Amino acid sequence: MKQTNCGIPVIKLSLFCGSITQSCHKAFSARFQNPINLNESMNSSDTWRGHIFRLMSKVVYMDYNATTPLEAEVVQTITEALQEAWGNPSSTYPAGVKAKAMIKKSRESVARLVGGEADDIIFTSGGTEANNMVFHTAVEHFWRNWEAAQETHRHLNENRVFPHIVTSNVEHDSVKLAAEYLQENRKADVTFISVSQETAHVEVQDIIAAVRPNTCLISIMLANNETGVIMPIQEICSRVKAMNKKREKLRILLHTDAAQALGKIPVNARELGVDFLTIVGHKFYGPRIGALYVNGPNTRTPLYPMLFGVKNAVQGLKYFWVSIISALLCFYQAAELVTNNLLDYEAHMQKTRLYLEERLKAVFKDKIHFNSHYPGSDILPNTCNVSILGPGLQGWRVLSNCTRLLASVGAACHSDSGDKPSDILLSCGIPVAVAANAVRLSLGRGTTKADVDAVVEDLKETVQLLC
Ligand SMILES: Cc1ncc(COP(=O)(O)O)c(C=O)c1O
Repeated sequence: MKQTNCGIPVIKLSLFCGSITQSCHKAFSARFQNPINLNESMNSSDTWRGHIFRLMSKVVYMDYNATTPLEAEVVQTITEALQEAWGNPSSTYPAGVKAKAMIKKSRESVARLVGGEADDIIFTSGGTEANNMVFHTAVEHFWRNWEAAQETHRHLNENRVFPHIVTSNVEHDSVKLAAEYLQENRKADVTFISVSQETAHVEVQDIIAAVRPNTCLISIMLANNETGVIMPIQEICSRVKAMNKKREKLRILLHTDAAQALGKIPVNARELGVDFLTIVGHKFYGPRIGALYVNGPNTRTPLYPMLFGVKNAVQGLKYFWVSIISALLCFYQAAELVTNNLLDYEAHMQKTRLYLEERLKAVFKDKIHFNSHYPGSDILPNTCNVSILGPGLQGWRVLSNCTRLLASVGAACHSDSGDKPSDILLSCGIPVAVAANAVRLSLGRGTTKADVDAVVEDLKETVQLLC
């Protein structure tokens, strides 16, 4: 790791910790002045201990799969952009020209990040919108090509046939709920492929076996947000491409949600062979927006907009977000950092995670179970999903009693599911009692061995308290 890159995250982490403590402090004071709020929001002594101690000590953030703080360089870029590039990019005077140039720069940089061309990048409000756009496009594309496909696939004429989508049972809610919506409203048939309980990833042959003549989309995430397990996307794409050669009119579109993989492992959309790839800025120290990589929008790959407002709708997608130029610039900066330093980031996270796992094993011995370890499966370098075994050690309980550790029991979008074990872990074959105790520790670029030591000590003290 270069000196500058090595030093910066450490400084940032402490700044970040400071801001957490401050906002916790504000929340705490507000609650303290209002006993009704206090009782509503903190109704157990478990919650109390964690909250009070976290106000007093320096916290360690290990929830980088939920979101990441902005890099210092990124903050600087936003400030400059707000001052200099405030014009409408369609305007011909300097502020507009500058804004347009900045959008172009950002698009080029995000394209480099995923191995595509600038024109392949469509900015969105986030990963959720990008994923929904893919499902919307696949269904629309199916119906528009239906007539032509009928001639090729005569057997599809027999009954009313819906577009068919293949996805997995461990996808993020923005894929899962989009698929369920289409299915429940009879807009598409969906097959949810179960991941193997041995490897925790989808098996390529299961995906291929699920393909039907009316399959229009296969959408499988690149890496899982809870277990960190990496899916065999390249192999799926090469098998499906061979099938596509025989189905020109109704080819199967290929999508991967790369939200968790970007910034942690190398990602190249062309090498993977996907048509669409979801990008989420806030997972790699960038802005709270996203993008969709589309391999040649409306030349090689169809794309149908969900928002209208300009004459050329697809062009509209590209220029819709004129009001968030600062966010786009921030995307530029965050993507450049990943492109230039990924190997260092990856190596650092991997080394620190292995150290964390070693320390956990040394302290908890046979009472530890890693829910992110599956024989033969690769995982993200930063993700350690772990259960400390024993009664009364449910993940939520452990976390709310920890005095320094800030982490989560699983995906942020399931944070209201209380003490219910994660469906993702259950789907991966983790027994209920083990899944109930799961804690997802996800490390960042700046996580140090000292942070790991502090967290393991915190967990040790918490377990002693709860047992
Ligand atoms: C795998 C995955 N996909 C999609 C998303 C959604 O991204 P966004 O929060 O930008 O809508 C997330 C965010 O947690 C994610 O982890």
